[in-house]
Amino acid sequence: MNNRLKLNDLNSLFTKYRKKNLKFKYPLLDDAFSNKDLFEAIKVIMSGQLTMSSKTFEFEKKFAAKIKSNYAVMVNSGSSANLLATFAACNPVRKNRFKIGDEAIIPALCWPTSLWPLVQAGLKPKFLDVDPLTLNVNASEVIKKINNKTKVILLIHVLGNSTEIDLIHKVAKKKKIIIIEDTCESLGALYNGKSLGTFGDFGTYSFYYSHQISSGEGGMVVCKTFDDYQLLLSMRAHGWSRNLKLQKNIEKHYPKLDKRFIFINSGFNLRPTDITASIGNSQFSRLDQFISIRKKNREKIIDSLKKSNKWKNQYEFLKINKKVSPSFFGFPIIISEKYKHLKKKLLTELDELGIESRPIISGNFLNQPAAKVYKFKQKAKSFPNSQIIEDRGFFIGLHTKPITNQKLNLLTNSLLSIDNLNKKS
Ligand SMILES: Cc1ncc(COP(=O)(O)O)c(C=O)c1O
Repeated sequence: MNNRLKLNDLNSLFTKYRKKNLKFKYPLLDDAFSNKDLFEAIKVIMSGQLTMSSKTFEFEKKFAAKIKSNYAVMVNSGSSANLLATFAACNPVRKNRFKIGDEAIIPALCWPTSLWPLVQAGLKPKFLDVDPLTLNVNASEVIKKINNKTKVILLIHVLGNSTEIDLIHKVAKKKKIIIIEDTCESLGALYNGKSLGTFGDFGTYSFYYSHQISSGEGGMVVCKTFDDYQLLLSMRAHGWSRNLKLQKNIEKHYPKLDKRFIFINSGFNLRPTDITASIGNSQFSRLDQFISIRKKNREKIIDSLKKSNKWKNQYEFLKINKKVSPSFFGFPIIISEKYKHLKKKLLTELDELGIESRPIISGNFLNQPAAKVYKFKQKAKSFPNSQIIEDRGFFIGLHTKPITNQKLNLLTNSLLSIDNLNKKS
């Protein structure tokens, strides 16, 4: 008898157990996992090999090949990817490394775990404002901000878009400044045909819920050099030498140590599981399809809003850098100046109408209580554009299946009901 598990045998179970989003008609992420994605995870569970193994290595190889990076190392989240990249960038084995007290340029519109690894590693963050319509830093302002103490530039490619990274890269290379590209919101986006995340020394990605692809939790770090690759592998897993090229050499030098437990550097445990790697890998095969559908859905939403007789420029949309071929997972919306006092009411109304929304990254990060704990000298008021994004911006999802007319109408009518809120106020 053939005991092999087949996807078809499980299809009815998938239907039975699939959770429908009961709260939202238009959630941030809609049913993005195929039965095949989940089947891949079930196969891993049934194999009993749950911890990091061949599924992770297979995904890493496929990822590196597709985005044309020399090396890719999977971790358990985008935050872990930032942590690993940052601590690799100051590791004593690295020739060009930053030291405690050096400075890092980072946008004020940032995610906490883009910032905190820098601070935890002893860097002084120097915040920079962003452009309110591209949501990204302006390259010439980054270059202007560089001084003798600048040793790291942490760029965030916000919601599928990017700044002129080639210009920043050119200057950074000359000055030996390390670039970490936080690409957690922009997997699959290209700048002049080259994948975002592959310009700098390290690029990081997230596979969290609602990102371009999702493995539940998960992330990836890419790098250019073999030495950095070996460093990332070791630091991802306790700092040990297992699976590294130098293992045999190390064994020879330390004959008294158990060769499976030789620790050659500092480290963390940031390993993913083969369960998440198998889901991520399965989703990754559909990345191009997701990018293309999301782009079309975005165009349809903008078109539908602008063609409505209720359209009065209530909103502004992301201005995409001409050199960027974008990859979206969310649809950022900036409420026009005239309507900005209605943001809270609008988001409550959207929530009641079944449309899930969230802030753009975490707004002007200097407003967050966590920023006060670290007593940064720069204050929130120095970043007026990040403040505009916090005060007037939010985003809704872009789904991986073509948007239906019903959902398009729901979004158009709900968003344009902002004028009624105006009358009510
Ligand atoms: C810019 C940015 N960096 C890092 C992260 C962290 O990724 P994760 O949620 O996978 O830890 C996020 C999360 O959404 C993010 O938006």
